[in-house]
Amino acid sequence: MARRPRLAVIGAGAWGINHIRVLAASVRCELVAVVDPDPRTPGRVAALAPERWTPELAPVLADRSIDAVVIASPAATHAAIAEAALLADKHVLIEKPLALRLSEARQVAAVAERSNRVALVGHLMLYHPAVVRLRELVREGSLGRVHYLHATRANLGQLRRDENALWSFGPHDLSMLDYLLDRQPVNVTARGQCVLQAGIEDVVFLTLRYGDGAMAYVHLSWLHPRKERRLTIVCEHKMIEFDDVSSEKLRIYDKGFDRPPPFTQFAEYLTLRNGDVHIPSVAMDEPLRLELEHFLDCIAGTARPRTPVSNGVRVVQVLDAAQRSLSADGVPMVCAT
Ligand SMILES: NC(=O)c1ccc[n+]([C@@H]2O[C@H](COP(=O)([O-])OP(=O)(O)OC[C@H]3O[C@@H](n4cnc5c(N)ncnc54)[C@H](O)[C@@H]3O)[C@@H](O)[C@H]2O)c1
Repeated sequence: MARRPRLAVIGAGAWGINHIRVLAASVRCELVAVVDPDPRTPGRVAALAPERWTPELAPVLADRSIDAVVIASPAATHAAIAEAALLADKHVLIEKPLALRLSEARQVAAVAERSNRVALVGHLMLYHPAVVRLRELVREGSLGRVHYLHATRANLGQLRRDENALWSFGPHDLSMLDYLLDRQPVNVTARGQCVLQAGIEDVVFLTLRYGDGAMAYVHLSWLHPRKERRLTIVCEHKMIEFDDVSSEKLRIYDKGFDRPPPFTQFAEYLTLRNGDVHIPSVAMDEPLRLELEHFLDCIAGTARPRTPVSNGVRVVQVLDAAQRSLSADGVPMVCAT
């Protein structure tokens, strides 16, 4: 019987601790190391992964018995650690954002391409059962053409120093838009405001335009009175809402305007359709657990990566265009290809 893959988690902060919790409880792998330079780490991880802490990355990468690493260190360190881990023949799961520069994201993709290791980006929302269902609904056609999408990701905290609200929160919504629409925006407009720290936007408003006329509006903020995680999709026939704060994740509204057939000459007006609201049941599971299970499936060769590094590069392309627009106070910017 094949041995269980041996994993290390790099970065045991607010989010890394969740990776540690899920991996330590998994019977499909062994969590053998937790790398974090912070000397308070052993106390933080004691209950989950006792005696696994090391402040140094190099010995973990040099340890040939370790098969894979999960990189949950600060965003500014992702690209360099991912590259070093791939060159050390480890499978990698890299937290979002893949990198804080497009050139670095492309460099990781090039190294991943040359390696024969699994390289996934932690675009968590693509493992969320409601988002998977949303994609099925958009694709099966009964909603009709997508007119526009409106996403809100706002709450109070956590302030970041390395990145603004665009790079911290944006990957979630931009990866969802990419997954649902399966195309890049033609251009991006971004405006924002630095309230709490000079030069770091706490709130960002994005507008994305797509080639077929569809558009998306995204509100990102860590300076907001309550937690909102909502995506509304307005389509030709129906409208649909994903509310990740609610227990009823999806609502399909049979609402819109109908155009009567033209044979009644005087009926060339639009009629309002104010129909039923359907709440499909979505079997929930923890998205992070599903993401890590998928990583293990990919390592075992039984699944193809749902969020490969190329996916992370596409999201960084949009973030890069948005950042250029933000710096130019809202001038529309084209995404690099
Ligand atoms: N997928 C999600 O839903 C989600 C949610 C929150 C955060 N994140 C991402 O996870 C990453 C970590 O976020 P966080 O909230 O845990 O941040 P954090 O600041 O709480 O934790 C970062 C940890 O990394 C450690 N660290 C710093 N440099 C390191 C290095 N070179 N090697 C190893 N460890 C190092 C720090 O000591 C700290 O413990 C970020 O990229 C963030 O965007 C993802």
